[in-house]
Amino acid sequence: MSALDFTPTSTTRRLGDDERARILAAPGFGTHFTDFMAHARWTVQDGWAESSVLPYGPLQLSPAAAVLHYGQEIFEGLKAFRHADGSVWTFRPEANAERMQRSARRLALPELSAEDFLASLRALTAADEPWVPEPTGEESLYLRPFMFASEEFLGVRASHTVDYYVIASPAGPYFPRGVQPLVVWITDEYARAGAGGTGAAKCGGNYASSLLARRQAVENGADEVLFLDSETHTGIDELSGMNVFAITRDGRVLTPSLTGSILEGVTRASVLRLAQDRGLEVAEQRLVMSEVLEQLDSGEITEMFACGTAAVITPIGSFMAHGGTWTVGDGGSGETTLALRKELTDIQYGRIPDRHGWLTRL
Ligand code: COI
Repeated sequence: MSALDFTPTSTTRRLGDDERARILAAPGFGTHFTDFMAHARWTVQDGWAESSVLPYGPLQLSPAAAVLHYGQEIFEGLKAFRHADGSVWTFRPEANAERMQRSARRLALPELSAEDFLASLRALTAADEPWVPEPTGEESLYLRPFMFASEEFLGVRASHTVDYYVIASPAGPYFPRGVQPLVVWITDEYARAGAGGTGAAKCGGNYASSLLARRQAVENGADEVLFLDSETHTGIDELSGMNVFAITRDGRVLTPSLTGSILEGVTRASVLRLAQDRGLEVAEQRLVMSEVLEQLDSGEITEMFACGTAAVITPIGSFMAHGGTWTVGDGGSGETTLALRKELTDIQYGRIPDRHGWLTRL
Protein backbone atom coordinates (compact mmCIF):
# COMPACT_ATOMS: atom_id res chain seq x y z
CA MET A 1 0.00 0.00 0.00
CA SER A 2 1.25 3.42 -0.92
CA ALA A 3 1.64 5.78 2.05
CA LEU A 4 1.63 8.86 -0.18
CA ASP A 5 -1.47 10.16 -1.87
CA PHE A 6 -0.61 11.92 -5.14
CA THR A 7 -3.86 13.90 -5.35
CA PRO A 8 -4.17 16.30 -8.31
CA THR A 9 -4.29 19.95 -7.25
CA SER A 10 -5.78 20.97 -10.61
CA THR A 11 -7.29 19.40 -13.70
CA THR A 12 -6.62 22.36 -16.00
CA ARG A 13 -4.43 21.33 -18.93
CA ARG A 14 -1.39 23.44 -19.83
CA LEU A 15 -1.60 22.72 -23.55
CA GLY A 16 -4.64 22.48 -25.81
CA ASP A 17 -5.74 19.42 -27.81
CA ASP A 18 -4.30 20.76 -31.09
CA GLU A 19 -0.91 21.52 -29.56
CA ARG A 20 -0.77 18.06 -27.96
CA ALA A 21 -1.70 16.39 -31.27
CA ARG A 22 1.01 18.39 -33.07
CA ILE A 23 3.63 17.27 -30.54
CA LEU A 24 2.49 13.63 -30.53
CA ALA A 25 2.79 13.51 -34.34
CA ALA A 26 6.60 13.91 -34.04
CA PRO A 27 7.66 13.85 -30.39
CA GLY A 28 11.46 13.42 -30.80
CA PHE A 29 13.15 12.70 -27.48
CA GLY A 30 13.16 14.82 -24.35
CA THR A 31 11.99 18.11 -25.79
CA HIS A 32 8.25 18.22 -25.04
CA PHE A 33 6.60 17.88 -21.64
CA THR A 34 3.09 17.09 -20.54
CA ASP A 35 0.49 19.02 -18.53
CA PHE A 36 1.30 17.73 -15.05
CA MET A 37 4.05 16.51 -12.74
CA ALA A 38 4.02 14.45 -9.55
CA HIS A 39 5.75 15.75 -6.44
CA ALA A 40 6.58 14.71 -2.87
CA ARG A 41 8.83 16.34 -0.29
CA TRP A 42 10.97 14.70 2.37
CA THR A 43 12.25 16.44 5.46
CA VAL A 44 14.51 15.03 8.11
CA GLN A 45 11.82 15.85 10.71
CA ASP A 46 8.74 14.38 9.02
CA GLY A 47 9.97 11.97 6.32
CA TRP A 48 7.98 11.85 3.05
CA ALA A 49 4.89 14.10 2.93
CA GLU A 50 3.20 16.83 0.86
CA SER A 51 2.55 14.61 -2.15
CA SER A 52 0.44 15.79 -5.08
CA VAL A 53 0.12 16.03 -8.84
CA LEU A 54 0.68 19.64 -9.93
CA PRO A 55 0.59 21.55 -13.19
CA TYR A 56 3.93 21.07 -15.01
CA GLY A 57 6.07 24.17 -14.71
CA PRO A 58 9.26 25.77 -13.41
CA LEU A 59 10.38 24.92 -9.89
CA GLN A 60 11.12 27.56 -7.32
CA LEU A 61 14.51 26.78 -5.82
CA SER A 62 16.89 28.71 -3.59
CA PRO A 63 20.17 29.58 -5.33
CA ALA A 64 21.76 28.01 -2.24
CA ALA A 65 19.92 24.68 -2.73
CA ALA A 66 22.52 21.98 -2.07
CA VAL A 67 21.89 20.19 -5.38
CA LEU A 68 23.16 23.21 -7.32
CA HIS A 69 26.49 23.07 -5.51
CA TYR A 70 27.19 19.45 -4.59
CA GLY A 71 25.10 17.52 -7.11
CA GLN A 72 23.14 15.40 -4.62
CA GLU A 73 20.64 14.09 -7.18
CA ILE A 74 19.40 10.81 -8.66
CA PHE A 75 16.93 9.90 -11.39
CA GLU A 76 15.20 7.04 -13.18
CA GLY A 77 13.81 6.47 -16.65
CA LEU A 78 10.94 4.25 -17.70
CA LYS A 79 8.20 4.29 -20.29
CA ALA A 80 4.40 4.06 -20.45
CA PHE A 81 3.18 2.06 -23.47
CA ARG A 82 -0.33 2.14 -24.89
CA HIS A 83 -1.62 -1.24 -26.02
CA ALA A 84 -4.00 -1.84 -28.91
CA ASP A 85 -7.02 -1.98 -26.54
CA GLY A 86 -6.17 1.51 -25.20
CA SER A 87 -4.80 0.33 -21.83
CA VAL A 88 -1.52 1.82 -20.56
CA TRP A 89 1.32 -0.28 -19.15
CA THR A 90 4.84 0.14 -17.89
CA PHE A 91 7.80 -2.23 -17.95
CA ARG A 92 9.41 -3.69 -14.79
CA PRO A 93 8.78 -0.60 -12.62
CA GLU A 94 9.73 -2.52 -9.48
CA ALA A 95 13.26 -2.84 -10.93
CA ASN A 96 13.44 0.95 -11.37
CA ALA A 97 12.02 1.48 -7.87
CA GLU A 98 14.69 -0.80 -6.38
CA ARG A 99 17.46 0.82 -8.41
CA MET A 100 16.29 4.25 -7.25
CA GLN A 101 16.53 3.01 -3.67
CA ARG A 102 20.09 1.78 -4.29
CA SER A 103 20.99 5.10 -5.94
CA ALA A 104 19.43 6.96 -2.99
CA ARG A 105 21.55 5.00 -0.52
CA ARG A 106 24.73 5.76 -2.48
CA LEU A 107 23.93 9.50 -2.71
CA ALA A 108 22.77 9.73 0.94
CA LEU A 109 19.24 10.58 -0.17
CA PRO A 110 16.08 9.17 1.47
CA GLU A 111 14.59 6.02 -0.01
CA LEU A 112 11.12 6.14 -1.51
CA SER A 113 9.14 2.91 -1.12
CA ALA A 114 8.39 0.91 -4.27
CA GLU A 115 4.67 1.43 -3.54
CA ASP A 116 5.04 5.21 -3.41
CA PHE A 117 7.21 5.16 -6.54
CA LEU A 118 4.53 3.21 -8.42
CA ALA A 119 1.76 5.42 -6.98
CA SER A 120 3.54 8.51 -8.34
CA LEU A 121 3.79 6.95 -11.82
CA ARG A 122 0.14 5.90 -11.74
CA ALA A 123 -1.10 9.29 -10.59
CA LEU A 124 0.89 11.20 -13.20
CA THR A 125 0.00 8.84 -16.04
CA ALA A 126 -3.70 9.07 -15.10
CA ALA A 127 -3.55 12.87 -15.20
CA ASP A 128 -1.53 12.87 -18.44
CA GLU A 129 -3.37 9.94 -20.06
CA PRO A 130 -4.03 11.76 -23.40
CA TRP A 131 -0.25 12.14 -23.73
CA VAL A 132 0.40 8.40 -24.00
CA PRO A 133 0.91 7.95 -27.76
CA GLU A 134 -1.21 5.57 -29.84
CA PRO A 135 0.72 2.34 -30.54
CA THR A 136 1.17 3.03 -34.26
CA GLY A 137 4.98 3.25 -34.26
CA GLU A 138 7.38 2.96 -31.37
CA GLU A 139 6.28 6.01 -29.46
CA SER A 140 5.76 5.96 -25.71
CA LEU A 141 5.44 8.34 -22.79
CA TYR A 142 8.87 8.57 -21.16
CA LEU A 143 8.59 8.93 -17.37
CA ARG A 144 11.45 10.63 -15.55
CA PRO A 145 11.35 10.33 -11.73
CA PHE A 146 14.08 12.34 -9.98
CA MET A 147 15.05 13.39 -6.49
CA PHE A 148 17.37 16.15 -5.32
CA ALA A 149 18.77 18.02 -2.32
CA SER A 150 16.65 21.17 -1.98
CA GLU A 151 17.82 22.43 1.40
CA GLU A 152 19.12 26.00 1.40
CA PHE A 153 22.50 25.20 2.92
CA LEU A 154 26.10 25.38 1.74
CA GLY A 155 27.70 23.04 4.27
CA VAL A 156 28.79 19.70 2.85
CA ARG A 157 26.45 17.09 4.35
CA ALA A 158 23.37 15.19 3.23
CA SER A 159 20.45 17.56 2.67
CA HIS A 160 17.71 17.77 5.31
CA THR A 161 15.12 18.61 2.64
CA VAL A 162 14.67 16.56 -0.52
CA ASP A 163 12.19 16.96 -3.37
CA TYR A 164 10.98 14.11 -5.58
CA TYR A 165 9.28 14.77 -8.91
CA VAL A 166 8.10 12.75 -11.86
CA ILE A 167 7.84 14.51 -15.19
CA ALA A 168 6.68 12.94 -18.46
CA SER A 169 7.73 13.47 -22.05
CA PRO A 170 6.27 11.87 -25.17
CA ALA A 171 9.11 10.03 -26.87
CA GLY A 172 10.05 8.67 -30.26
CA PRO A 173 13.52 7.21 -30.95
CA TYR A 174 16.30 8.43 -28.65
CA PHE A 175 18.79 8.80 -31.50
CA PRO A 176 17.85 11.33 -34.19
CA ARG A 177 18.66 8.76 -36.92
CA GLY A 178 16.28 6.21 -35.32
CA VAL A 179 17.42 2.58 -35.21
CA GLN A 180 20.27 3.14 -37.68
CA PRO A 181 23.62 1.61 -36.63
CA LEU A 182 25.63 3.88 -34.35
CA VAL A 183 29.16 5.08 -34.86
CA VAL A 184 30.87 4.85 -31.47
CA TRP A 185 34.00 6.74 -30.41
CA ILE A 186 36.25 4.94 -27.89
CA THR A 187 37.69 7.49 -25.49
CA ASP A 188 41.23 6.84 -24.29
CA GLU A 189 41.27 10.08 -22.33
CA TYR A 190 38.28 10.11 -19.99
CA ALA A 191 36.58 7.60 -17.67
CA ARG A 192 32.95 7.74 -16.63
CA ALA A 193 33.31 6.35 -13.10
CA GLY A 194 35.92 4.75 -10.89
CA ALA A 195 36.08 1.96 -8.29
CA GLY A 196 34.17 2.92 -5.15
CA GLY A 197 32.57 5.85 -6.97
CA THR A 198 29.00 6.37 -8.10
CA GLY A 199 29.12 4.49 -11.41
CA ALA A 200 26.39 2.01 -10.46
CA ALA A 201 24.07 4.76 -9.20
CA LYS A 202 21.80 6.62 -11.58
CA CYS A 203 22.95 10.07 -10.57
CA GLY A 204 23.38 13.20 -12.65
CA GLY A 205 27.10 13.36 -11.88
CA ASN A 206 27.84 10.23 -13.94
CA TYR A 207 26.16 11.80 -16.94
CA ALA A 208 27.89 15.16 -16.35
CA SER A 209 31.25 13.41 -16.34
CA SER A 210 30.45 11.77 -19.70
CA LEU A 211 29.62 14.99 -21.55
CA LEU A 212 33.08 16.19 -22.56
CA ALA A 213 34.01 12.79 -23.98
CA ARG A 214 30.66 12.63 -25.75
CA ARG A 215 31.28 16.04 -27.29
CA GLN A 216 34.67 14.79 -28.50
CA ALA A 217 32.92 11.77 -30.01
CA VAL A 218 30.54 14.02 -31.93
CA GLU A 219 33.42 16.26 -33.07
CA ASN A 220 35.06 13.12 -34.46
CA GLY A 221 31.91 12.22 -36.41
CA ALA A 222 30.53 9.61 -33.97
CA ASP A 223 27.07 9.31 -32.36
CA GLU A 224 28.16 8.02 -28.97
CA VAL A 225 31.18 7.48 -26.74
CA LEU A 226 32.37 4.24 -25.16
CA PHE A 227 34.12 4.39 -21.78
CA LEU A 228 36.77 1.95 -20.59
CA ASP A 229 37.41 1.09 -16.96
CA SER A 230 39.13 3.91 -15.09
CA GLU A 231 41.84 1.74 -13.56
CA THR A 232 43.45 -0.04 -16.52
CA HIS A 233 41.75 1.68 -19.50
CA THR A 234 41.44 -1.75 -21.11
CA GLY A 235 38.03 -3.17 -20.13
CA ILE A 236 34.73 -2.00 -21.65
CA ASP A 237 32.42 -0.20 -19.19
CA GLU A 238 29.48 1.43 -21.01
CA LEU A 239 28.39 4.25 -23.30
CA SER A 240 27.39 7.71 -22.03
CA GLY A 241 23.92 6.50 -21.02
CA MET A 242 23.55 2.91 -22.22
CA ASN A 243 24.93 -0.57 -21.61
CA VAL A 244 26.73 -2.42 -24.38
CA PHE A 245 26.54 -5.98 -25.77
CA ALA A 246 28.50 -8.12 -28.25
CA ILE A 247 27.32 -11.25 -30.09
CA THR A 248 29.81 -13.79 -31.41
CA ARG A 249 29.65 -15.76 -34.66
CA ASP A 250 28.77 -18.89 -32.65
CA GLY A 251 25.86 -17.11 -30.96
CA ARG A 252 27.27 -16.13 -27.55
CA VAL A 253 25.79 -12.95 -26.09
CA LEU A 254 28.36 -11.02 -24.03
CA THR A 255 28.10 -7.93 -21.85
CA PRO A 256 30.45 -6.37 -19.27
CA SER A 257 29.88 -7.69 -15.76
CA LEU A 258 28.51 -5.42 -13.04
CA THR A 259 31.73 -4.23 -11.49
CA GLY A 260 30.19 -1.41 -9.48
CA SER A 261 31.20 1.21 -12.01
CA ILE A 262 28.49 0.52 -14.61
CA LEU A 263 24.75 0.92 -14.44
CA GLU A 264 22.57 -2.13 -13.75
CA GLY A 265 20.31 -1.55 -16.72
CA VAL A 266 16.77 -2.90 -16.65
CA THR A 267 16.96 -3.35 -20.43
CA ARG A 268 20.36 -5.05 -19.99
CA ALA A 269 18.83 -7.61 -17.57
CA SER A 270 15.84 -8.15 -19.87
CA VAL A 271 18.07 -8.70 -22.91
CA LEU A 272 20.10 -11.31 -21.02
CA ARG A 273 16.87 -13.13 -20.19
CA LEU A 274 15.43 -12.95 -23.71
CA ALA A 275 18.72 -14.19 -25.18
CA GLN A 276 18.74 -17.14 -22.74
CA ASP A 277 15.14 -17.91 -23.68
CA ARG A 278 16.30 -18.24 -27.30
CA GLY A 279 18.83 -20.86 -26.24
CA LEU A 280 21.77 -18.50 -26.67
CA GLU A 281 24.69 -18.74 -24.28
CA VAL A 282 24.97 -15.51 -22.31
CA ALA A 283 27.97 -14.28 -20.30
CA GLU A 284 28.53 -11.27 -18.09
CA GLN A 285 32.29 -10.91 -18.14
CA ARG A 286 35.21 -8.55 -18.50
CA LEU A 287 35.38 -7.51 -22.16
CA VAL A 288 38.85 -6.31 -23.11
CA MET A 289 38.58 -3.57 -25.72
CA SER A 290 41.66 -4.61 -27.74
CA GLU A 291 40.40 -8.21 -27.91
CA VAL A 292 36.95 -7.08 -28.99
CA LEU A 293 38.50 -4.98 -31.79
CA GLU A 294 40.58 -7.98 -32.91
CA GLN A 295 37.46 -10.14 -32.86
CA LEU A 296 35.63 -7.57 -34.97
CA ASP A 297 38.45 -7.67 -37.52
CA SER A 298 38.53 -11.49 -37.56
CA GLY A 299 34.73 -11.78 -37.76
CA GLU A 300 34.56 -13.61 -34.42
CA ILE A 301 32.23 -10.88 -33.08
CA THR A 302 29.49 -10.27 -35.61
CA GLU A 303 27.09 -7.91 -33.83
CA MET A 304 27.20 -5.24 -31.14
CA PHE A 305 24.49 -3.05 -29.71
CA ALA A 306 23.70 -0.39 -27.13
CA CYS A 307 20.73 -0.78 -24.83
CA GLY A 308 18.77 1.23 -22.29
CA THR A 309 15.23 2.38 -21.60
CA ALA A 310 15.55 5.38 -23.89
CA ALA A 311 17.75 3.73 -26.54
CA VAL A 312 15.85 0.39 -26.38
CA ILE A 313 18.28 -1.78 -28.42
CA THR A 314 20.27 0.17 -31.02
CA PRO A 315 22.82 -1.57 -33.26
CA ILE A 316 26.44 -0.42 -33.28
CA GLY A 317 27.82 -0.28 -36.86
CA SER A 318 31.38 0.80 -36.20
CA PHE A 319 33.93 2.00 -33.66
CA MET A 320 36.41 4.82 -34.03
CA ALA A 321 39.45 5.77 -31.95
CA HIS A 322 42.68 7.65 -32.50
CA GLY A 323 44.17 4.37 -33.78
CA GLY A 324 41.64 3.64 -36.54
CA THR A 325 38.12 2.43 -37.34
CA TRP A 326 36.54 -1.00 -36.95
CA THR A 327 33.35 -2.18 -38.63
CA VAL A 328 30.92 -4.44 -36.76
CA GLY A 329 29.83 -7.26 -39.10
CA ASP A 330 28.90 -5.61 -42.39
CA GLY A 331 28.25 -2.28 -40.65
CA GLY A 332 24.47 -2.79 -40.74
CA SER A 333 21.98 -3.98 -38.13
CA GLY A 334 22.65 -7.52 -36.90
CA GLU A 335 19.97 -10.19 -37.24
CA THR A 336 19.99 -11.26 -33.57
CA THR A 337 20.11 -7.63 -32.42
CA LEU A 338 16.98 -6.83 -34.43
CA ALA A 339 15.24 -10.03 -33.29
CA LEU A 340 15.89 -9.20 -29.62
CA ARG A 341 14.72 -5.63 -30.22
CA LYS A 342 11.51 -6.83 -31.86
CA GLU A 343 10.77 -9.31 -29.10
CA LEU A 344 11.38 -6.74 -26.34
CA THR A 345 9.17 -4.10 -27.97
CA ASP A 346 6.49 -6.68 -28.86
CA ILE A 347 6.28 -7.53 -25.14
CA GLN A 348 6.22 -3.86 -24.13
CA TYR A 349 3.41 -3.00 -26.57
CA GLY A 350 1.40 -6.13 -25.67
CA ARG A 351 1.76 -7.65 -29.14
CA ILE A 352 3.00 -10.98 -27.74
CA PRO A 353 2.37 -12.64 -24.35
CA ASP A 354 4.23 -11.17 -21.38
CA ARG A 355 5.63 -14.56 -20.33
CA HIS A 356 7.89 -13.13 -17.60
CA GLY A 357 5.22 -10.90 -16.02
CA TRP A 358 7.26 -7.79 -16.79
CA LEU A 359 4.32 -5.44 -17.47
CA THR A 360 2.40 -3.47 -14.84
CA ARG A 361 -0.82 -1.72 -15.73
CA LEU A 362 -0.78 1.97 -14.86
C1 COI B 1 17.31 5.97 -19.98
O1 COI B 1 17.62 5.15 -20.84
O2 COI B 1 16.16 6.03 -19.52
C2 COI B 1 18.28 6.91 -19.43
O3 COI B 1 18.07 7.43 -18.37
C3 COI B 1 19.50 7.24 -20.20
C4 COI B 1 19.52 8.55 -20.87
C5 COI B 1 20.55 8.45 -21.97
C6 COI B 1 18.26 9.05 -21.46
